[in-house]
Amino acid sequence: MSDPSEDIDAHSGVETTGHSWDGIKELNNPLPRWWLISWYISIVWAIGYMIVMPAIPALPGMGTNTLGVWGQSDRTNVATAVTELKTERQASSITLLDASLEEIESDRELQQFALAMGESLFGDNCATCHGAGGRGAKGYPILADDIWLWDGTLDGIETTLRYGIRHDSNDQTRFSMMPRFGRDGILTSSQVDDLAEYVLNFSDRSHDHAAVTRAAPIWQAQCASCHGEIGTGDRSVGAPNLTDAEWLYGSEPRDIRETIYNARNSHMPAWEGRLDDASIKALAVYVHTLGGGE
Ligand code: HEC
Ligand code: HEC
Repeated sequence: MSDPSEDIDAHSGVETTGHSWDGIKELNNPLPRWWLISWYISIVWAIGYMIVMPAIPALPGMGTNTLGVWGQSDRTNVATAVTELKTERQASSITLLDASLEEIESDRELQQFALAMGESLFGDNCATCHGAGGRGAKGYPILADDIWLWDGTLDGIETTLRYGIRHDSNDQTRFSMMPRFGRDGILTSSQVDDLAEYVLNFSDRSHDHAAVTRAAPIWQAQCASCHGEIGTGDRSVGAPNLTDAEWLYGSEPRDIRETIYNARNSHMPAWEGRLDDASIKALAVYVHTLGGGE
């Protein structure tokens, strides 16, 4: 190998590196200027960045990362943002708690806050029973319609949520017990059959007119106190209207017979204590908006 400085390529007139493979020599062209400049700039940038921003780890052997003179920290930024959001929400929650239905409906921002909060709480706590968007299931009332078993006003819905329905350990829970007419021997099996026909007759679906006639006095004696003389129901005891086409426990004759024989008396959990007041209010607003609330 010879001294590169002495080795000039005859063809291009450029100095070679002195390396040669099978007679092919490598020219020692200078680095392009633009490349060199970018390289120097990036070195300066890297050093500057290490000084002002936190770097992990900035230099070998330094142990922990440098904090950077600008005090920039994603963790602090997130924490600040979360605190700000919490304060904002808390303010909205407090306003929500004291607001009446009219106030919530006229304050767009407050209404949207309540609906967003209610929707997410509903998905977490209620959809398991009432279905997504409150579409209901057998034994679990549809909340997205304007038929109410109990009170469908905002305050009424809030009471239902707070204290539950037939909740064992709660004095203020919504309560009523339809008797188990067949199972407890209050009525005979054939009387129960007749009553099922009678109930079907409310929505013009009975074909056994003799049964309907036989059941009429039993209805007045046993059922009218809760469901009303003409079957339109009574919300003070959560007794459904039997004259509409909506059925909580199914529309088939055997579903209706089963209800009269065994009763259902389903339970709904009380949410007081599990959810805070603002959450319950937000849920009530959400449910009220879902169905035609009153
Ligand atoms: C374990 C199942 C279950 C869960 C969870 C549940 N519910 Fe219910 N809910 C019921 C049942 C059953 C009824 C009907 C009880 C009856 O026969 O009156 C009901 C009734 C209601 C009613 C009364 C409807 C009417 O027509 O008057 C409202 C309102 C309601 N639920 C809202 C909610 C909300 C909001 C949540 C979530 C916080 C929720 N429910 C969670 C089972 C449940
Ligand atoms: C103490 C009040 C009470 C009495 C008395 C009563 N019911 Fe009910 N009934 C209810 C309640 C409350 C419900 C619905 C809630 C539940 O059981 O979960 C219901 C539900 C029903 C349903 C189911 C409706 C549906 O949408 O699926 C039928 C049918 C019914 N009752 C028929 C009768 C008949 C027939 C009698 C008389 C033999 C009777 N009930 C007496 C309170 C009563």
